[in-house]
Amino acid sequence: MARKKIALIGSGMIGGTLAHLAAMKELGDIILFDIAEGLPQGKALDLAQAGPPEGFDANLKGANSYEEIAGADVCIVTAGVPRKPGMSRDDLLEINLKVMKAVGEGIGQHAPDAFVICITNPLDAMVWALREFSGLPHQKVVGMAGVLDSSRFRHFLAEEFDVSVEDVTAFVLGGHGDTMVPVVEYSTVAGIPVPDLIKMGWSTQERIDAIVKRTRGGGGEIVGLLKTGSAFYAPATSAIVMAESYLKDKKRLLPCAAHLTGQYGVDDLYVGVPIVIGANGVERVVEIELKNEAKSNFQTSVDAVKELVAACKGIDGSLK
Ligand code: APR
Repeated sequence: MARKKIALIGSGMIGGTLAHLAAMKELGDIILFDIAEGLPQGKALDLAQAGPPEGFDANLKGANSYEEIAGADVCIVTAGVPRKPGMSRDDLLEINLKVMKAVGEGIGQHAPDAFVICITNPLDAMVWALREFSGLPHQKVVGMAGVLDSSRFRHFLAEEFDVSVEDVTAFVLGGHGDTMVPVVEYSTVAGIPVPDLIKMGWSTQERIDAIVKRTRGGGGEIVGLLKTGSAFYAPATSAIVMAESYLKDKKRLLPCAAHLTGQYGVDDLYVGVPIVIGANGVERVVEIELKNEAKSNFQTSVDAVKELVAACKGIDGSLK
């Protein structure tokens, strides 16, 4: 069987890390695409030279032209600008919307059968716009946010309980912004829900509340420390999990920004919800029952995404 083809649109910090992970896991041959000349070619060559010591077989190639992504099975989009300290994800809207137009048209023309994962922020609005510009079916275009947000939540919970991250599951819904909704009732250690662990004396409500708050600001905390850009290792790893589920038809149930058509009372918006990713792309949107605070927080998050999409339509008249 011929190798799969993975096109990385944007070869910056996340793009380079994606290429490294995809090569190490031998997910397929890799095209690194960027508008910057030399950058994707340089990274491709450097990574190709990591093949012999590591022992992976993957062809890596840098490109500045969309023709090179032709026939890609998966496209992962990080093209755009990242945050600097003091910026919110929403501050990136105008500039990254223009980038989504170019990228969406490029994918629509050259890789219309690909499964597309968007990472560019502000995520929920950018994945919506990217889908519009590309014209691809909605079930083949998703946004990476929930896997990352829940990984951050899992990391903090594992630290709090002093247990392996492997045994911690966590649920984060809603938009990829400060209004995201970490759902404590659905987060567990080996199946034991966090509220039960509080009752068992493993932690306190106050400490869990602080962890929820830290998870919401998880990206900003890293921007503040790095000063020159935003997180890249965990975002890249999270997107690779999604790509792998598609390429290997693993049917993993993952929180992702997916197109909703009435589920959760939301229509024609991308919002973070649990979905099953398999060979057909988004094979199922899982509608869990949200109660009390989680329900109202989810609505706040949806309203924030709606506002961003309205802002996109205001900036680009071709979006309806
Ligand atoms: N087409 C292709 N590539 C582009 C375009 C474009 N129109 N515009 C910018 N780029 C490239 C830049 O040249 C750069 O190499 O996108 C790359 C972005 O890389 P970084 O600046 O290193 O950003 P990164 O940390 O990878 O984050 C990318 O993901 O998490 C989000 O908020 C983050 O929106 C940002 C994106």
